[in-house]
Amino acid sequence: MKLVHISDIHISPEPILDLDPIDNFLKCLAHVEEHQSDADRIVITGDLTHHGLAESYDRLKEILAGSSLTGDRTPRLMIGNHDSRENFSAAYPGASRDENGFIQWTEDTPAGVFVYMDTVRDGNHAGSYCSARRAWLEAALEGARARGKSAWLFMHHNPTAVHVANADLIGIADEAELKALLARYRDTVRHMFFGHCHYTLSGSVAGIPFSAPRSTNHTCWPDFSGNAARMGHGELQPNYNVCFLGQDDVVVHSIDFLDENKVRWRETNDEGWITELPNAS
Ligand SMILES: [Fe+2]
Ligand SMILES: [Fe+2]
Repeated sequence: MKLVHISDIHISPEPILDLDPIDNFLKCLAHVEEHQSDADRIVITGDLTHHGLAESYDRLKEILAGSSLTGDRTPRLMIGNHDSRENFSAAYPGASRDENGFIQWTEDTPAGVFVYMDTVRDGNHAGSYCSARRAWLEAALEGARARGKSAWLFMHHNPTAVHVANADLIGIADEAELKALLARYRDTVRHMFFGHCHYTLSGSVAGIPFSAPRSTNHTCWPDFSGNAARMGHGELQPNYNVCFLGQDDVVVHSIDFLDENKVRWRETNDEGWITELPNAS
């Protein structure tokens, strides 16, 4: 199964750190439409907007309404700490919620059960996965396990500290409790996907592998000095991930979509002659 994982699009009418998030998301979407139109699912793991403005959700709706990505490929939208639960819900009244009003749900896919988790704590950039949400997650994972299905977890916040001081200030509360729960289901959960940090990440938590793309707009530079007041940014490459979810393997590619026009192509024919192709995809 082919999954496109996009994160942190931060739709905003104003530039962010001198970068235009709408222009960059349009470029990302155009790249996905052109090169990943065979994806089985497309997920955007939060920070859909920069300030949670109603007009930004309207703009996002308008952009997605004009996209060729429809049906199963309609991007699944999750909220992040820069979003407004209220304004998102007003723009997407049909969005799935659990019985406590959290925007989290599950979906059966060819690879197993996709579990979309709501880690947002209202009014705070740090995340939370409170006991009510953990009970919901446990029921979801128990359900997947009972049906002999794999589970794939999606969330906005990083489920573990990333050793960058300014990011770890706004990580997820309840980290230990979440990890304890995950450890009990490491036979069921195949992979975790998140965003929030704005750099490409991979690793594991509670024995479960994870991956995260940067952002489609303002990439951050990881700084390990321990200085929480420091944040690296600039004209750095944004990206999205293309993930192949196999029966017994997972492969994650990082796509620096703004680099596409730098790619040169060559093709080798049966006789071994190499032809350099024009500089276009
Ligand atoms: Fe973000
Ligand atoms: Fe975030």
